[in-house]
Amino acid sequence: MATKFYLPDGTITDLIGITLPAFFAGTPEEFFGFEGARAPEPATGKPNMPKLLAYLADHPNAARVVHALQSQLAPLSLAQTSFRALHAYRFSNTADKSRWARYHWEPEAGVAGQPVEELAKKPHAFLFDEFETRLQQGAVAFTRDLQFAKEGDSLGDPSAIWPEDRERVTVGRLELTRPITLEELGDPIMMHDPTRVTDGIEVSPDDQIIALRRGAYMLSVAQRTGGRHYPRGSVRRASGFVQTGKSEAILDDCRPSVVAMKCASLNSAAS
Ligand code: HEM
Repeated sequence: MATKFYLPDGTITDLIGITLPAFFAGTPEEFFGFEGARAPEPATGKPNMPKLLAYLADHPNAARVVHALQSQLAPLSLAQTSFRALHAYRFSNTADKSRWARYHWEPEAGVAGQPVEELAKKPHAFLFDEFETRLQQGAVAFTRDLQFAKEGDSLGDPSAIWPEDRERVTVGRLELTRPITLEELGDPIMMHDPTRVTDGIEVSPDDQIIALRRGAYMLSVAQRTGGRHYPRGSVRRASGFVQTGKSEAILDDCRPSVVAMKCASLNSAAS
C-alpha cells in the first residue's frame, strides 16, 4: 500500500508498506545475491533449489523471511491486510525526545487471509475489484501503528524481524472513502519515495536498502516515463549518490521526468 500525503505546509510525504514480515535483504549485495539465487534456470523455468537453499543457509535473515512466508496466507481482501513499512524510522516530538519505530497500517476490519491456491483461482483483478465494491458500501479504514524498537533491535536492517512483543501505539487513522482517478489527482507519474519523510521523522543512516530504494525508484520513473535508459549497475551508483548526499547528481540525470513529477506533485498539493 503506497500512500502520499499532501501536507498543509505544501510538502509531501510518502508512507509505503507491503505484506512481508521483513525484507529479503539487508544490503544491496544481499539483494542482488538473493535475486541471483532465486532466478529461474533457463532450462526449467524454475529456481535451482540447491543453489537457493545454499544461499539461505548462509543468510539466516532471508531464510527466516522465506520461512515466515510459507505459512503466511494470501490476502482475502486488501481492506483486511496488514501493510508494513519494514524500515525503522526515528520519530521525534516537539521536546526533541525521539524513539525508533517501524510503522504498520492495520485494517480496522481485521486481518483475514486465504490459501494462495484459492486466490489463484480468482480473476486477476479480484483484489482490486473487491476493494472497489467495498468502497461503494462504505469507508475502509486503517490505523497507523508504531512498533517501538528495544535496545539491541536492528535499526538499519529491514531484513531483521523484530520480536512481536514490541510495544505498539496507534498514532493515526486513514479512511479511504472513494476511488480516485489519476487525472483527478493531477500526478500522472505518482512515485512513492520511502525517504520522503516529514518533520520529526528520520530514516536510519545505516539502512542501505532505503538508500538504494530512493535511487531505484527515480531510475524506474525515468524509464517508465520514457526518460533516459540506464545501463546495468546504475542502481548501485544511484544509491551511492544518495548515501553520499549528492542527490542533486541523480536529479540532474533524471531532470526531465523528475522535475515533471515534482511540479505535478506540487501543483496538485497547491490545488
Ligand atoms: C532493494 C530493495 C528494493 C528495490 C530495488 C525496489 C524497487 C522498486 C521499484 C523499481 C519500484 C517501482 C517504482 C516506480 O516506478 O514508481 C518499486 C515499487 C514499490 N516498492 Fe520497492 N524496492 C525495494 C524494496 C522495497 C521494500 C523494502 C518495500 C517495503 C515497503 C517496497 C515496497 C514497494 C511498493 C509498495 C512499491 C509500489 C509503489 C507505488 O505503487 O508507487 N520496496 N520498488
